Amino acid sequence: MKEFRGRDIVSIADFSRRDLDYILKTTDEIEDLAKRKPDLLRGKTCAILFFEPSTRTRLSFQAAMQRLGGFVLDMSEPRASSIEKGENLTDTIRVVQNYADVIVLRHPLEGSARLAAEVADVPIINAGSGAEEHPTQAMLDLYTMKREMGSIDGLKVALLGDLRYGRTVHSLASALSLYNVKLYLVSPEALRMRREFVELARQRIEVQEFQSLDPIIKEIDVLYVTRIQKERFADPAEYAKLKGYYKVTAETVGKMKPNAIIMHPLPKVDEVAPEVDLMPQARYFKQVYYGLLTRMALLALVLGAL
Ligand code: NCD
Repeated sequence: MKEFRGRDIVSIADFSRRDLDYILKTTDEIEDLAKRKPDLLRGKTCAILFFEPSTRTRLSFQAAMQRLGGFVLDMSEPRASSIEKGENLTDTIRVVQNYADVIVLRHPLEGSARLAAEVADVPIINAGSGAEEHPTQAMLDLYTMKREMGSIDGLKVALLGDLRYGRTVHSLASALSLYNVKLYLVSPEALRMRREFVELARQRIEVQEFQSLDPIIKEIDVLYVTRIQKERFADPAEYAKLKGYYKVTAETVGKMKPNAIIMHPLPKVDEVAPEVDLMPQARYFKQVYYGLLTRMALLALVLGAL
């Protein structure tokens, strides 16, 4: 296993199964540890640089840092910064690293986090690089599966929705391929997962693609739903054609195994009917809490506090 102190979190592909298991174990322990040592990250500063909208990811990194006694510098309004004057990402990173021990970055361009990691002397945590990856989301998704189902090995997992532009499912498919799972990719034809991610997962596990949940709904353990990523469509007419293509309703849930669960990275728009929120299978709000724990664990690890 590679040392975590000072490590960048750019892509799931940089993590082995042992690394991921270690993160899951640390996440298990952090809840208790934060109560015993609320000053674990005292004197450490985390800069949050977000060039795209966010609620959960931004607030959960802030909350994670604060619960462990650290400071947060938040720059999530690029219009109020020198970016508006034309400063490029590498210069921004070179500057911000003087103020912080770790930088959490969300940026619309693929490759942005990798570029930032190359220029920065402090660890970079990728909180979303365009439609490419969202590795910390995949880590919290794994943690949710482990906590809620007992184990990740042996699960049958369906990823439903916008698998083309959804960065969470790209990172999650890579992460799940390190476990003994069966992966079903369910999407309209136009939103199939990019071949590079499918092929990567197929090298290690069984992956099947469908256009509807019907053939597999009765056998899956985890249904991971995503919204259509409207903001990534070059042509609004293309989005209009796909809007409402799939929807998880009480009827869908009724066909699932009684102990199967539904996850969602959120935000949800119209792909999950409101009645599903109250059903015991819906675990997306618990997933949010597990996200806080996962980010506490990740910050403590890369800042070398454990
Ligand atoms: C996701 C994202 O930003 O990719 N949100 C999140 O971080 N939980 C999913 C999405 O926006 O659909």
